[in-house]
Amino acid sequence: MTRLNIVVGITGGIAAYKAVGVVRALVLAGHDVHVVPTEGALRFVGRPTLEAISRNPVHTELYEGVAEVRHVAIGQAADLIVIAPATANSIAKLAAGLADDLLGNTVLASLAPVVIAPAMHTEMWQHPATQANIATLRSRGVTIVGPAVGQLTGADSGPGRMEEPDEIVRAALRRAATGHEPIAASAVPGDLADRHVVVTAGGTREPLDPVRFLGNRSSGKQGIAIAEAARARGARVTLIAANLEVAEPEGCDIRSVSTALELQQAVTDAARGADVVVMAAAVADYRPANVSEAKIKKDQSDDGLTLELVRNPDILAGLGHAPHDGTVLVGFAAETEADDERLLALGRAKREAKGADLLVVNRVGWNEGFASDENHVVVIGPDGSVVTRAHGTKLSVAHDILDVVVSVTTTAARAATTTKESDPA
Ligand code: CTP
Repeated sequence: MTRLNIVVGITGGIAAYKAVGVVRALVLAGHDVHVVPTEGALRFVGRPTLEAISRNPVHTELYEGVAEVRHVAIGQAADLIVIAPATANSIAKLAAGLADDLLGNTVLASLAPVVIAPAMHTEMWQHPATQANIATLRSRGVTIVGPAVGQLTGADSGPGRMEEPDEIVRAALRRAATGHEPIAASAVPGDLADRHVVVTAGGTREPLDPVRFLGNRSSGKQGIAIAEAARARGARVTLIAANLEVAEPEGCDIRSVSTALELQQAVTDAARGADVVVMAAAVADYRPANVSEAKIKKDQSDDGLTLELVRNPDILAGLGHAPHDGTVLVGFAAETEADDERLLALGRAKREAKGADLLVVNRVGWNEGFASDENHVVVIGPDGSVVTRAHGTKLSVAHDILDVVVSVTTTAARAATTTKESDPA
């Protein structure tokens, strides 16, 4: 294992106490860790603790160690910078490139990959200013870990909680191992401005009788995260919500549906002229051939019941095989296949069969995928290659998926302009 020189920046939020766990895990993993807390961070966690755990002196002052040009030396020597927690204020400062403290100077003076773990109240996280700053950082190749959804400092809960130290360490070391994250040229704040994005989320329910249905375990969280992320990037979002188990996001045009046929109608209407359609909903492939008007009663003489089902239309394939120039179609594939190569092969085949431009493959199982706040996906591109792998909160995965969508739209727009330019007049 290579011993890395890692700077851990700690900014002034209550989650600073958890940063000690990040420092400790990195030291125990054999790395040389230099902690750079802001003044605010030192109100939450003491310098002696940080020195003892990191086994290195801890500096905060810009005007200390001037002779050794410390304000740039720390950043220049770093192989990796991890900032945990990153408060809304520190994220704004990073996005603006401010260098009014040692941490700001360290980041600006460094070429190392930067990984940040945001932590703040939900309102602050969801504020357009913070989301725009996050989009700026993301576009510069900064890896954003979290935030997780859960209990915050007060009685409130929601997205904003700092990701657990183990997860931050895993993401940071993975980032260091893979080098710089590709910087998506188009991923700028508002890179979906004026675009119409249609997202389906949740799972359809096919009624058997007035009290029963055939359904699935999709919570709708990933679809909602995509809708939220698209909103944050400036899109007009239509969310087709099928039996969601979580709150609907603000600022979207919401169309509630229940069955596959209702979803088909709603998405076909909304998709007309849309720039992007994301089919994240889990759609039932079959529905009961007959829906009983009255509750189905047990037949005492029987010890079983056979249901007759008929096929539902494949909505994504219907959209994919109709002309859809100018609309990027994104499908999902929920697969239980454990082997990575076979999982990808299933995804590639599904993308082709459905005529989707992009296909997001995720592994599901009894304990994987559905109600979780995290996801692990592979995105397959128009030529069948793996365009990106994303892991993290469903919101960060949503942004990674949208980065690909934006790059596909930009490439298509460029190709269209080039063709027009080269067309004989
Ligand atoms: N989908 C759809 N209409 C259906 C079934 C699925 O539009 N009747 C869409 C889903 O929204 C998703 C993609 O197709 O974007 C793949 O869904 P998935 O359930 O993984 O695949 P299926 O086509 O149902 O194939 P199978 O269940 O055989 O794996």
